[in-house]
Amino acid sequence: MARLRGREATYEAPPNIALVKYWGVRDRERTIPYNSSISVTLDRLRSRTTVRFEPDLPDDRVELNGAVATGAPREDVVRFLDRVRDLAQVTDRASVRSHNNFPTASGLASSASGFAALTGAATAALGLSLSGRELSRLARLGSGSASRSVFGGFVEWRAGTRPDGRDCYARPLFGPDHWPALVDLVAIVKSAPVKEVRSADAMQATVTTSPVYRRRLAEIPNRLRKMRAAIGARDPRRLFPLVMEECDSFREVCETTRPSLDYLTTASRAILGEVRAVNREAGRPVAAYTHDAGAHVHVFTLARDVRTVRRRLARLPGVERTQLLRPGPGGHLVR
Ligand code: DP6
Repeated sequence: MARLRGREATYEAPPNIALVKYWGVRDRERTIPYNSSISVTLDRLRSRTTVRFEPDLPDDRVELNGAVATGAPREDVVRFLDRVRDLAQVTDRASVRSHNNFPTASGLASSASGFAALTGAATAALGLSLSGRELSRLARLGSGSASRSVFGGFVEWRAGTRPDGRDCYARPLFGPDHWPALVDLVAIVKSAPVKEVRSADAMQATVTTSPVYRRRLAEIPNRLRKMRAAIGARDPRRLFPLVMEECDSFREVCETTRPSLDYLTTASRAILGEVRAVNREAGRPVAAYTHDAGAHVHVFTLARDVRTVRRRLARLPGVERTQLLRPGPGGHLVR
């Protein structure tokens, strides 16, 4: 049995927005995706999670944003803690307290930041000292996209080829300061529906029912290559059209899933249309939209164009507000 050194730890982790989406796993138990993905880790938003292992606790106790968690959200955390306990060879139950400084299940990727924070806190509390790569590998078992929130800046999660998933982890491509002019205007839409089906379940429905999923998979290696190069060159003319092409491909496989997956509201669709109009009028890619499995839309643009783009988005009916985010640092231990 491993000896417990620290019994409590607190870890903070940010959400990330995918530029090339993770959608579909070839191994559900190990969360091994069909394709690699690329994301930007976001500043200002974070999950802060404290885990305390207590020998006298009869069961795990999970508190999310001040309320005791029950049902599926609790089960997901308990199942993940079991993996960490296996790794550390301990059986103690834990008390988990997690807080997001942004709305949960709103399309702002709380599962990514939440599970990255839980991974960092639970392993540190058990005295396990894991490298970034090991943390990423473990975090993906809680939520696939959490594997990328371990690192800051521009991050790639490599799907790998090994059946055991040892080569399936994220790594930083470029740091948070690589492209200071790039900003993400998140357009928060009114009455966004709360996500009912976990992405982990929804994406497998896509794999088995969407007639265009295979075609999407075949396109991705080329898109990843072009994306890395465009980010490396800090070239919005190459990056912005690619980001939208990828988002459209993701939306297409969702919409052709049976039953159809529609994450957007009328306002979300109006935002996509407005970004296309801004680009058309300027005769150059001024901005790029992307969204995950939620209704809010992330609009990438350059600092010099933020005011124009923000004004255009703010006047759309159904847009509640826009929040300005930038690439930020990855997860870190607080204490
Ligand atoms: C559309 O990793 O959030 O955001 O297992 O349900 O937590 P869960 O899935 P999750 O799925 C992310 C899907 C996506 C694309 C992406 O982030 O790459």
